[in-house]
Amino acid sequence: MSEKPIRIGVIGVSNRGGYFVNAFHKEVEGASVVAGMDVRDEHLDRFREIVGPEALVTKDYHELINHPEVDAVVVASPDKFHEEQGLAVLKARKHLLLEKPMAITVEGCDRLLAAHKEAGVVFGLGLSMRYMPMFQVMKRVIDSGQIGEVKAYWCNHFVGKGGHFYFHDWHAVRADSTGLLLQKGTHDLDIMHYLTGRFATRVAAFGGLDYYGGDKPNDLHCPDCPEKDTCPEAQLGWPDYFSLCAFRREVDVEDNHVVIMELEGGIRAAYQECHFTPDYHRDHIVIGTKGRVWNDELTNTVTVKMRQRHGDSDIVHTLHPTEGEHGGGDPRLCRDFIAAIREGRPLLNDPYSARMSVAVGVAAHESIRAMGKMIEVSRPNV
Ligand SMILES: NC(=O)c1ccc[n+]([C@@H]2O[C@H](COP(=O)([O-])OP(=O)(O)OC[C@H]3O[C@@H](n4cnc5c(N)ncnc54)[C@H](O)[C@@H]3O)[C@@H](O)[C@H]2O)c1
Repeated sequence: MSEKPIRIGVIGVSNRGGYFVNAFHKEVEGASVVAGMDVRDEHLDRFREIVGPEALVTKDYHELINHPEVDAVVVASPDKFHEEQGLAVLKARKHLLLEKPMAITVEGCDRLLAAHKEAGVVFGLGLSMRYMPMFQVMKRVIDSGQIGEVKAYWCNHFVGKGGHFYFHDWHAVRADSTGLLLQKGTHDLDIMHYLTGRFATRVAAFGGLDYYGGDKPNDLHCPDCPEKDTCPEAQLGWPDYFSLCAFRREVDVEDNHVVIMELEGGIRAAYQECHFTPDYHRDHIVIGTKGRVWNDELTNTVTVKMRQRHGDSDIVHTLHPTEGEHGGGDPRLCRDFIAAIREGRPLLNDPYSARMSVAVGVAAHESIRAMGKMIEVSRPNV
């Protein structure tokens, strides 16, 4: 006899949440979507069309969480709601898949860690890059000892669609996101921790708002702007909440960052994130005492280059084309969430690590805003 499906409720049902609605409703075996919560009628209407009339549709996330038919909850609302909504899920002792970043403050993450300890449920994060075959290959190379002891790690993050994704809505305001090293960088900071098996201990950073932001009114929307035909960032054809002017006054996050870090074990690391590059990809370069390994998203390869006398040079792993967003990471994350619930085990992206990537992002923003001051990265005391 086949097992009963895990019944999922989704908080925040469009955009990223819409991915999870479709995935758990149509693609992931052993799951069904039984409830959706959002603050906008049009998103709830679309949710009902996809899932069918039997599903609970509500504007009250407590109602969704406490619905007796909901076994597990996906929280895919904007970042500043993660802590409050995630805590409510854990307090109700339901399984939780919480989008990244875990919260917009370190204290918020620590409250989630403490609540998880009490709840005894499965708690995974939306850090789907850990599931990307590309990073799995790099992890195997590093863990095998092939490149020796890791001593240096450089990551370059080219966010070519930065304006499109991050500067026309809530992402660009510190009060809503803390900043983009946390919002966007949490993925790559997490991969740096994951691949090395070490956490950052201290950081220093420089950054600024070098292209976006400006003196346009906060309520100016691209379709209403007199410069819409000439502005290189005009976001037309999108709902009004995605088309605020990228050069408006309230934009106060940085768009160009350079972070230096020390990781446990004396690994020297650097992370660069720029939001106005012409291309969109990320390079992770890891150097050990015997060689180095790096990824190339454009050719879908991982290359290992060995130093003299340490073996063959340039071993290139070409990956199979992947299905799904984030280099195949998203569908794997969804399947693993269901499997983890059935098997009563953690996911690959554990809450402790998620908290540590938030802590690095927060520390790096603090450093930027204190003119590059060195900041120790805190550890949770749970
Ligand atoms: N893991 C990834 O790679 C990845 C990719 C994209 C987005 N995300 C994360 O997913 C989350 C959502 O991002 P998005 O771009 O879809 O945002 P969004 O602004 O499009 O909002 C998503 C949904 O949440 C709804 N919403 C707004 N306020 C809400 C509230 N108080 N309670 C419940 N729902 C609310 C919106 O109406 C919308 O339907 C963010 O935390 C983001 O960081 C993760």
